[in-house]
Amino acid sequence: MTEPYMRVENLVKQFGPFTALGGVDLEVYPGEVHALLGDNGAGKSTLIKNLAGVHQPSSGQIYIEGKPVNFRSPRDASNAGIGTVYQDLALNPLMSVTRNFFMGRELKGMFGTLRMDEMNQIAHDEMLTIGIDFSDPTQAVGTMSGGQRQTLAIARAIYFGAKVLILDEPTSALGQRQQMGVLKTMMRVRSRGDIAIIFITHNEIHSKLVADRFTFLSLGKVIGQGTRETLEGGEIRRLMAGGAELGDLAKELADIG
Ligand SMILES: Nc1ncnc2c1ncn2[C@@H]1O[C@H](COP(=O)(O)OP(=O)(O)OP(=O)(O)O)[C@@H](O)[C@H]1O
Ligand SMILES: [Mg+2]
Repeated sequence: MTEPYMRVENLVKQFGPFTALGGVDLEVYPGEVHALLGDNGAGKSTLIKNLAGVHQPSSGQIYIEGKPVNFRSPRDASNAGIGTVYQDLALNPLMSVTRNFFMGRELKGMFGTLRMDEMNQIAHDEMLTIGIDFSDPTQAVGTMSGGQRQTLAIARAIYFGAKVLILDEPTSALGQRQQMGVLKTMMRVRSRGDIAIIFITHNEIHSKLVADRFTFLSLGKVIGQGTRETLEGGEIRRLMAGGAELGDLAKELADIG
């Protein structure tokens, strides 16, 4: 099997006396979607913030291509190929698609003039490759649908060198059709073969549709981990519920009513 692009070993994150992550192991492989699942407060966002250089681990080690790395800032992580798409997407709705795509990393010509035509073309082409044909990238981002914005943020991360693409609940705020659009985008990125995707979600169905590998967090610990082949549906459902057996929810609800 190929080597993991990134490996996390026994990662601990304390906030004062509180242990948000109690020794997490994780491996992400190029060409794979790794679903990161767990209930509210499980530690998913804290984990990816450690991978993205926003937080520094209290202990434990992150390796990129086998080499230990210490990210002191989001820039360090980004330079190492960690591209993170947060839920707010960090887009400015009033600015054009292209300006958002390049935000702070514009192509400039002599005397600092912006190479707008070239940037428009790149923004258009990069989004087209992963699924949306947004013919006029001079339009404001505010005119895009939620799914299109997600695709813009993903295309931008890839263009600027992401080898690990971290998506924090990319489907959660979208309607059904748009959710499917984002899942398709993820599969197109996956099919390139050179990018590892970490997909944070609460949605069991979405994770089963696209993920090759699964990690379940509960209260800062890994309670289950495996591949599509080694985990079966029932096990995934049990782990989604934080490891506890799902009681007869229908009955509990009926008892109330
Ligand atoms: N900066 C912080 N300071 C103190 N505690 C924090 C901090 N960030 C997160 N926590 C705590 O760590 C735990 C894990 O939070 P985290 O946001 O990582 O969970 P999550 O799995 O992303 O949840 P959700 O599904 O709700 O997004 C929570 O108990 C949270 O209150
Ligand atoms: Mg979170």
